[in-house]
Parts: sequence; C-alpha cells; structure tokens
Amino acid sequence: MSTATAEARSTPVPTAPRGGLEGVVAATTRLSHVEGEAGRLTLAGHPLAEIAPHASCEEMAFLLWEDRLPKPDELAELRRELVVHRTLPPAVLDLLRAAAGADPMDALRMGVAALDAGTDSKPAERTPRGDAVRLLAAVPSIVAAHHRLAAGLEPVAPRDDLDHAAAYLHQLTGAVPAPERTRALATYLNTVSDHGLNASTFTARVIVSTGSDLVSAVAGAVGALKGPLHGGAPGPALDTVLEIGDASRAETVLRQKLERGERLMGFGHRVYRVRDPRADVLAAAAERLFENGGGDRGLYRLALAVEQVALRLLREHKPDRRLDTNVEFYTALLLHGLGLPAELFTPTFAVGRTAGWTAHALEQAATGRLIRPAAEYSGTDDRRWVPVEERDGRRL
Ligand code: ACO
Repeated sequence: MSTATAEARSTPVPTAPRGGLEGVVAATTRLSHVEGEAGRLTLAGHPLAEIAPHASCEEMAFLLWEDRLPKPDELAELRRELVVHRTLPPAVLDLLRAAAGADPMDALRMGVAALDAGTDSKPAERTPRGDAVRLLAAVPSIVAAHHRLAAGLEPVAPRDDLDHAAAYLHQLTGAVPAPERTRALATYLNTVSDHGLNASTFTARVIVSTGSDLVSAVAGAVGALKGPLHGGAPGPALDTVLEIGDASRAETVLRQKLERGERLMGFGHRVYRVRDPRADVLAAAAERLFENGGGDRGLYRLALAVEQVALRLLREHKPDRRLDTNVEFYTALLLHGLGLPAELFTPTFAVGRTAGWTAHALEQAATGRLIRPAAEYSGTDDRRWVPVEERDGRRL
C-alpha cells in the first residue's frame, strides 16, 4: 500500500466543527462571490451595488445563465419566451384553486411541482435552459395567482407588454405599476437573485446532481427557502418593527426579546461578519421608493431607529460574535413600501432567487458530478432483532 493511500485511509472524514457544513466548500461557481469578512457580494463578475439597481430582471437572469449580458436581440427574445410561459397551464391553476387556503410557500411548492401536469412534453424533449425560462416565468405567476385566489379574487391574465418585475406586480394587483415601483421591485429581485451556496441553492444543486431536472430542483429549493432561518425572516422582521410602533419603545421590546432567548429577525448571518451588502442596496432602494411617495415614510424612519437599537443590543448580547443587519430587514421595508403583505415576502424572495436556483442547476448539471457527502455514525451497532410479541420494557 502506498503512503498516500495509507494516509487517506487513516485520515478521519473532515466534519464542520459546529455542524451545518459551516466553512465547507462544496461546489465551484462563477455565479456569485460572497465575501463574508469584507461584506462584499459580486454577481457574475459585477459588484452588487452596480448591477442590482440598473439591470432588468431579464438581463440579470441572462447574465447568470450565460455568463454575459444579453445583446438587444437576445434580450427581446428572452422577453418573448417569458411572455409565453407566464400563462400557467390550466392544471396548475386548478391545483392553486384547490390549494387557495394553503400557506403561500406550500402553494408555490405545489404549483412548481405541478408545472408539467397536463403538458405533453416528455422529459427527454425538454432542455435544462428551456426549463430555466419556464420556471423564471411561472414562479411569479404561481405566487400571484395563489395570492388572488386566497383573497377570493380571480387570477389576472398576464399582459404581453410588461417586463418581468412589472408583470409580477400587475398579476398581483391587476394594475400596471408606475416605473419607480417596477424599478424598486427589480432592484430587490436582482439583489436576492443569487448568494453563493445558501441552503435552498445547495438543495437545488443536490437534486440536479442526481441527474434530476430543474423543475424538481426548484420545487425542492422552495421547500428549503420556506424555513425561518433562511427565507422566512422578513415577515417577522416587519412584525417586530410594527410591534415596537414608536422608536422610544425599541430598547425595551428588543431587550425583552433577547432576555427571552429570542433572535432578532433581520440580524445575523452565517457568512457575513459585517453588514450584509444587500442591506445597503435595499436600504437605498427603499429610501428612493419612500421619497417618491411609495409607502409610509414614518415606518421607514422607525425602522432606521429600530435597526440602530438592535445593533447596539446585539453587540452587548454577543460581544464575541458580530451580528449585523442582514438582507431580510430592508426586504421587509421595501416590499411593505411596494404594498405587498407580509405573507408575500418569502414567496417574492423565491421569485428573485429562481434566477440563481436555475443558474446553479445549469452549472451543476454541466459538472455531472453527484453530490453525496459522508455522515459520521453516532448510533450503536450491538442491537439484535426482537419479534414484536417479545418486546417489553427491557427488550426493544
Ligand atoms: N438575534 C440574537 N442572537 C443571535 C442572532 C439574532 N438575530 N443571530 C445569531 N444569534 C446568536 C445565537 O443565538 C448564537 O448564540 P449561542 O452561541 O449563545 O447559541 C450565536 O449568535 C451564533 O448563532 P448561530 O445560530 O450559530 O449562527 P448561524 O450562523 O447559524 O446563524 C442565522 C445565522 C440563522 C441567520 C442567525 O443569525 C439567525 O437566526 N438570525 C435571525 C433570523 C434571520 O434574520 N434570518 C435571515 C438570514 S438571511 C437569509 O437567509 C437570506
């Protein structure tokens, strides 16, 4: 046996010290670079603060999928394709009707999973890129249709003259949004379009790595995004600001939460040890929107005050761990300013992240490598089979 092989056999499988795969590199990607210590995010080579407030969602998705910005004819073609797929298959609409009472993220997961129902296309005839376009178009349509059905309203038929962000707002409300509202939403959707190997993106990559398809990957990713430690925080973050109600109560309310062992939603991050750079981009977008008459300026000022108190208390509470503002805090404020109710915050995050999920799925599919980590067994190996009739308190 060679020395190298002997060493490989005797080396224990590396495990992340705190669990949760913290710090473990599990993929190579050109899609986004998350620099936790520097508080920097690069999306397909572009600094976040430069690309997110300027690109349309179509340009952002094309950039992630193709690794370059589209030429005018390519952008027009992508817009045409998205218009076609924005109309949901009747079977999906029927399902959403039946699921009108469901949680919006559950409805989104069901809607995505049912995208192939009633269609004739065989898996072999589908292309990963075609699925990516279909998903990018369908996810906002599913969210909007379910939202309206839950309120006892009929879904709005998509128009063919609106871009991705405007079409989503139109399908939610039935009204064509003003350009500054479309811009604010597009900035948000671009800001959250991709973020390294976060839990839902990892889920999507694991699914595709088995040779499965993009629709399955996005259905799984939606399930992962639903949890409060990932995409479910902006609703509770806004609830906290509303519960505080007045800046003078911020210290008391937040201190009580920390004393009860609760986490302050919208703060802390697995990777960032400084302020989440997405918080800055969204805070600027929120400020522009509120200045232009969108939303409640008083709430915006209250949120700024709450943020400062929360940061001070978190520094006291965990002096050895830098807990700073994350993307969810200003997500809540921006989406609230756009008139979206809290139950749409996480589904709207999914609308933005679909660009990244599909881009990672395409990237993963191109590697062809199955993701299959190891687990350290912590159970016992000395149990013996006991038939059910012989099992008593001593022998299970
Ligand atoms: N409020 C109070 N304490 C906190 C917070 C917080 N927001 N975040 C972390 N801590 C504390 C933890 O209680 C823990 O203390 P302990 O060591 O005494 O147990 C310590 O800081 C380290 O926390 P971990 O959970 O180990 O850190 P992790 O990297 O797993 O957490 C997470 C990251 C899940 C985002 C966490 O900061 C959190 O729960 N934040 C609130 C929820 C939130 O805002 N989620 C959205 C994240 S952004 C996104 O996913 C898009």
